[in-house]
Amino acid sequence: MKILGVHIGHDSSAALIVDGRIVADVAEERFNRIKHYCGLPIRSIDYCLRSENLTMDDIDIIAIPSIFTIPDLNFLFNLKGSRREFKTRKRQMLDALDTIWKKPGLKPPLYIKTFEIGRNTEIVHVEHHLAHAASAYYTSGNADKQLIVTMDGVGDGKSIVLWRGEKGKIERLKDFSGSASLGWFYSNVTEALGWWHGDGEGKTMGLAPYGDIQKVKGVLDAYYPKFSNGELIEPHDFGRNYFWNENGAIQWHFEGANEIKKLVSKHGREQIAAEGQRVLEEQAFEIIFPWLEKEKIKNLSCAGGVFLNVKLNQRIWDSGRVERHIIYPNAGDSGLAVGAALYAYYSNNPHTQIYNLDNLYWGPEYSEKEMEECLKLRNISYERIDDVEAFTARQLADNKIVAWFQERMESGPRALGNRSILMSANNPENKDIINARVKFREPFRPFCPSLLWEKQEEYLENPRDEFFMITSFTCKEARRKKVPAVVHADATLRPQTVKKEFNKRFWNVIDEFGKLTGEYLILNTSFNIMGEPIINHPREAIRCFYDTGLDCLILGNFVLTKENKGGE
Ligand SMILES: [Fe+2]
Repeated sequence: MKILGVHIGHDSSAALIVDGRIVADVAEERFNRIKHYCGLPIRSIDYCLRSENLTMDDIDIIAIPSIFTIPDLNFLFNLKGSRREFKTRKRQMLDALDTIWKKPGLKPPLYIKTFEIGRNTEIVHVEHHLAHAASAYYTSGNADKQLIVTMDGVGDGKSIVLWRGEKGKIERLKDFSGSASLGWFYSNVTEALGWWHGDGEGKTMGLAPYGDIQKVKGVLDAYYPKFSNGELIEPHDFGRNYFWNENGAIQWHFEGANEIKKLVSKHGREQIAAEGQRVLEEQAFEIIFPWLEKEKIKNLSCAGGVFLNVKLNQRIWDSGRVERHIIYPNAGDSGLAVGAALYAYYSNNPHTQIYNLDNLYWGPEYSEKEMEECLKLRNISYERIDDVEAFTARQLADNKIVAWFQERMESGPRALGNRSILMSANNPENKDIINARVKFREPFRPFCPSLLWEKQEEYLENPRDEFFMITSFTCKEARRKKVPAVVHADATLRPQTVKKEFNKRFWNVIDEFGKLTGEYLILNTSFNIMGEPIINHPREAIRCFYDTGLDCLILGNFVLTKENKGGE
């Protein structure tokens, strides 16, 4: 059975599930280079089909992670009037974005590719939060009873939903509307600090450890919904909000952020970030732990944009109240295409085994021939090295900044060793060096490590398998000074533990680096220019290489350096 998941909205994406296994997943931003792109995922659908040599006629189900029919959908699949019966409840906000060529009766322009769906293809709508829940449960590795918690800003009118996953089925336990949104609260704090909703929340989280909670505890009391014992006891009126389409992405503004901004001026940015983080953790605990007790389980699965907050995830794990903690790593809305498609699959095949998520390498890959053509076309000198892993490790041991481009691109917001910028974490100044020369990020933001799975006990307190950088851990005290470039102000790090069987090349690089330096851990940050999506194509890798202070680019087995080029 072949199922195409199609998410149209913030972080538009498409995914392909074949017989229950995820075989392709990509966000449209990776193709059109517009971060958080909210339009039609045309190139993503095209990629999903091409990756398996399929046409739309081969697709059994198109799964849409929304209860709403939006005009874009009719347009995308070139649907006319009664050809397909949609479960339309109401037209949502995207109506406001409608343009003349999407009006009924008008055909799409010829220069836009649409997809003629197969005669027998069924279209199913999966509620937004149910798609989030499915992404976590159906990749959790077991069908045992588990509490599934989904939290985001708002999706299909809900902000938080609690589910029971059991025997391959997902059952709704409780849901909360927008007046309970902890996601909107955290985004308001983010906006008050000067960053975008749906983009800058990680910066708020990174800034939080620099604040002193004791000095500001309670100052945000008027700005968030309150929970007790798993129930909403004080809804919050978030007031008016505005959204608009800016360069292809949705941007939001909430009036509530204006009030919080006054507190930022009064108390300082670090303090408000710290208090925002404290409140998020406190309120999330008031929902999650009582429901675990009610359900009498310690098996928790999570998804939705709030769970991109790695500190919240760490606090849940470190509480000791959870024995098994799964977070779908592509927790934001770009993970909805996978979630909707998985839900559609298991609805039709409820007894299929639930697989353990072992990788996210579901994006495009480029052959050696394509890479070499790309280099030749640009008249770039390069060399081909068989053992690029050992070469890369030596470069890193020499404190070089290396861009590492291999095989299939990662899904989700984290680079996991196929589209990564790497550097030694052993020198405290490397964070500043990489910021000054390549990433240009705010100086307080931490960089993350990739380390050998076999060595996790040496670096992490209270470790567990963490393949996707979705939870932080406290760094063992003895190691903090050894890898200072990736240890945050609160002594935590957000690791990817690398198993040889999941990514042999990347594992070899870290292993070789360990043999040279004694540390089986390296700094790994996403391969992109600031403000742009993660790199997809070799030409973008080359562009980034020459537009930044990167020392070395490893493109498959091809090596580009800037040494001996005009006396650099
Ligand atoms: Fe969502």
